[in-house]
This record gives sequence, structure tokens and C-alpha cells, in this order.
Amino acid sequence: MTPLIIAVDGPAAAGKGTLARRLAGHFGLPYLDTGLLYRAVGRRVLDGGGDPRDAGVAEAAARGLRAEDLDRSDLRGPPADDAASNVAAHPGVRRALVEFQRGFAAAHGAVLDGRDIGTVIFPDATAKLYVTASPEARARRRWLEVRARDPRADLAEITAEMAARDARDAGRGAAPMKPAFDALELDTTEMDADTAFEVAIAMVAEKLATP
Ligand code: DC
Repeated sequence: MTPLIIAVDGPAAAGKGTLARRLAGHFGLPYLDTGLLYRAVGRRVLDGGGDPRDAGVAEAAARGLRAEDLDRSDLRGPPADDAASNVAAHPGVRRALVEFQRGFAAAHGAVLDGRDIGTVIFPDATAKLYVTASPEARARRRWLEVRARDPRADLAEITAEMAARDARDAGRGAAPMKPAFDALELDTTEMDADTAFEVAIAMVAEKLATP
């Protein structure tokens, strides 16, 4: 039997991480946050004093990635966001990470969240969700998150950084962020996490019931 694979793609702070983790719990599947892979590569480049926009340096960092790099505590926050988005634009970095993502889901299926899960990594995924929210709602959510760690967090700055990151993620030639043709779109602007979860469960259940 083909393992159950649920792809959850979409822009930053649309709510896909929380949703994907809860879907994994509900369906009894392993969960992979694929953004962490790009974040860990970006971190390795920064640690070595390199520039994440340098394709050669970024590819070498991606090829040398180890499982424990994903457990680092410094993979979130604006410098890591920016480094991740820059390394993710290099085709060689993306190629280096494909096998790990496919391997992760091979035995038992999985829920994976990212930008290209439904388009490139698992074009035959059982169900594909594309989770969005308005740029204002997403920036506000991210601001509230960052402010919990840093009271100086500035909403306007976060809004601008997020817009630049979205434009880079959607505008790159290699596996740009976009909904798969057969993705189900879920706009969470007016939803809390519980509502988004209920709607997503219904969408996936309907997909599973469709032969
Ligand atoms: O999901 P995230 O915000 O943690 O992702 C960080 C960056 O990594 C994001 O700006 C784009 C990149 N990314 C990607 O290109 N493809 C993925 N499957 C996941 C993340």
C-alpha cells in the first residue's frame, strides 16, 4: 500500500507548521518541518563566515548537513530566516536535500511542510494543502512570536522582511513557492489554529474518500 503523504505548503507564518504538526498527530504520521533543513544549511554557512548567496558555499554546507544540525536552538529569528531563504534559492542546495525528504516519508508516510512539497518533493502526495493568510495577518503573527523573545521587535521591520522573503521564495527559478495545481487552498486569515485544523481535517478526509 502507498504510504499516506500530506504536503502542507505556503508562505511564512501562514500557520502551516502548527497545522502540519497537528495533522501528523491526528493521522498518526511522522512530521517533518522542511524549513529546518534550509535554516540549518543557512546557519552552517553563517558559522563558517560565508555568504548564503554564494551558491558554492551553500551547496557544500547542504551536502555536509547532519541530523544533529536540525536540533540547534538558533535556527529561528530574522538572521536565520534570511539565510535560509537565500540558500534555498540555489538549485544545488535543493538537490542535496531531496533525498533526505523523500527518505523521511518512505517507510511510514509523513506530513511535511515547506514550499515545494506538493510541486517537487512529492508531486503524487495523497493530499496537498496550500496554507495562506493575508500579509498583514502573517506579519502580525510573526511579530507576536518574535516579541515574546525580544520586546524591541518592530512590526514594520518584520512586515518588510517577510515581504522580501516571500518575494525571494516565490520568485526564484528553482522550485519556487507556489500551490500545486491540485492543492487545496486554505486561507487562515480569519481562523484561529483550532478552526484551521478542523477545516484541514475535513479537506484531507474528503480527499482520502475520493478514489
Ligand atoms: O518554513 P520556514 O519559514 O521555516 O522556511 C525557511 C526558508 O526556507 C523559507 O524562506 C524558504 C525556504 N524553504 C524552501 O525553500 N523550501 C522548503 N520546502 C522549506 C523552506
